[in-house]
Amino acid sequence: MTADHSQHHSNLKNKEIVVAITGGIAAYKTAELVRELTKRGSNVHVVMTKNAMEFVTPLTFQTLSGNPVINEMFQLFSGSKIGHVTLSDIADHLVIVPATANIIGKIANGIADDFLTTMVMATTVPVLFVPSMNTKMWESRIVQGNIEKLEDLGFRFLEPAAGELACGTSGKGRLPEVEDIVETMEDVFTLKDLQDQKIMVTAGPTTEFIDPVRCITNRSSGKMGYALAKIARRRGAEVILITGQTYVKPPRIDIEVIRVTTAVEMRNAVMDRFRECSVIIKAAAVADFRCRTESCQKMKKTSDAIVSLELEKNPDIIAELGAVKEHRVLVGFAAETENLTKNAADKLKRKQLDLIVANDVSKADIGFGSDDNEVTIVETTGHVKQVPRMSKDEVASIILDSVKKCLKKKQRKEDWY
Ligand code: PMT
Repeated sequence: MTADHSQHHSNLKNKEIVVAITGGIAAYKTAELVRELTKRGSNVHVVMTKNAMEFVTPLTFQTLSGNPVINEMFQLFSGSKIGHVTLSDIADHLVIVPATANIIGKIANGIADDFLTTMVMATTVPVLFVPSMNTKMWESRIVQGNIEKLEDLGFRFLEPAAGELACGTSGKGRLPEVEDIVETMEDVFTLKDLQDQKIMVTAGPTTEFIDPVRCITNRSSGKMGYALAKIARRRGAEVILITGQTYVKPPRIDIEVIRVTTAVEMRNAVMDRFRECSVIIKAAAVADFRCRTESCQKMKKTSDAIVSLELEKNPDIIAELGAVKEHRVLVGFAAETENLTKNAADKLKRKQLDLIVANDVSKADIGFGSDDNEVTIVETTGHVKQVPRMSKDEVASIILDSVKKCLKKKQRKEDWY
């Protein structure tokens, strides 16, 4: 049997999470959220308001969470204790999803007439509201006033997404993607140890055109770079993600994403913005060459058996950065098929990097495209850290630990002078 490496790097593991559902059309999407939370190792307790039960049934949520669903004010919970008090004692986090205008209004005005509203009043744990409603309701001064009041009291809100709504209109009011809700919840339990840093991450492949329909690219999916961007943001850093074309969804909504296609475009974006960053991580797989002349028209078939393309060198972005980086921490990746550590250590020196992460790309199930990676981290001191196969999120977290060590070392040096 092989181990399951697809597990997320999650701080929600072993946490007692209360998911409260109120009566909105998006209630059915909460089933997916409960599933994702249990996958990440949380123990989920579902609370439903009376209105929620008009949209979805407790049985679904009991099955998905493995715990009884609470939907009555005086429901008994684990024997004789009254539910809302017990649950607010054991909970680590309460998330209300979807949160209707009605529940926001009730809680903002101190009404406690059912299990959920009473629990919110009795709890001291972090509470997250995930509102979903019609755009006009969302924009109404009553709702916005209530939200402001609750935010002032320390309650957190995740803004609705824009798009088509169930009522047939389009605008802001949709429930955010499950992935975005879970990321916001991960934030609550993540130490913000990179809070004062601004980190640039490059990710994905670059694409060089031969003619308007053909191109030279590589198998990078962007997943490694996206994992680095996500975990850095989770740990409190401000993040700029410069990405080549990929089909993977941007990892978080609160990351600045700059999309590029060619290596020259990536170089320009990096050189334009690196000065404002304290850390630059180059996980992108940059094409070393581009076509010397890109044909404006689609190349025609010819009778020749061999057609040659003339290639010219692309800029070496990381080497250019190495020469001007000053106090910044510069992290490179090295995709190698042999002599992993030695080749990586050579690149580290030659390109004036602070850290290099070596990838053995000859192995099929790690590196390019996969959800897992196995890397060797080489420092300027010659210190080598072997990171065995694990999810890219977990690898990202270990790389960021090494970045943090580098930052501390540089800080100590600056203090010393
Ligand atoms: O995207 P995934 O599917 O998740 O796959 C991840 C990955 C395998 C692409 C990633 O982990 C990785 O190894 N990225 C670097 C691949 C690479 O281009 O290696 P390299 O040895 O050719 O380049 C060394 C370093 O120089 C890299 O940091 C690269 O970004 C940088 N470089 C390379 C060429 C160039 N012209 N400019 C550069 O800045």
